[in-house]
Amino acid sequence: MEQRTYCMIKPDAVARGLVGRIVTRFEDVGLAIERLELGMVTPEQAAANYAEHEGKPFYAGLVEYITSGPVVKMVLAGPDAVPVVRKLMGVTNPKDAAPGTIRGDYGLTLDANIVHGSDSPESAEREIAIFFG
Ligand code: RTP
Ligand code: MG
Repeated sequence: MEQRTYCMIKPDAVARGLVGRIVTRFEDVGLAIERLELGMVTPEQAAANYAEHEGKPFYAGLVEYITSGPVVKMVLAGPDAVPVVRKLMGVTNPKDAAPGTIRGDYGLTLDANIVHGSDSPESAEREIAIFFG
């Protein structure tokens, strides 16, 4: 099924110069880049994006981190774009992410885990609205 998903290259990965390599992973499987923008995440956008985690012990650090430097915001589209992007990203903790996935190849810690991707088509539409209006 044709889907759109929201994907974000997190601040540490932008600072480390990984943008080209990460975007290439998505292009290589044939996903279309519908939107792509470098910029900061506002505290309001961070709170909206991570509302499901409000109240958890790692929430404050998560919001501080995602607003700490420029990110790359993307809308990716294609057949089953939501699960395909999650598969390419790998599991949440880079320590456990398989080699060949973005988190497995470029990350080391749970906090700085390189990329964000929407976890369902509903989340995707909500997140695209948060970041692209
Ligand atoms: P994301 O939302 O960033 O794409 O990551 P995800 O779906 O794989 O993971 P999620 O459960 O939504 O968690 C969001 C981010 O919070 C950080 N986290 N820290 N200390 C902890 O137990 C913990 N759990 C999650 C991670 O940086 C994760 O990407
Ligand atoms: Mg998530």
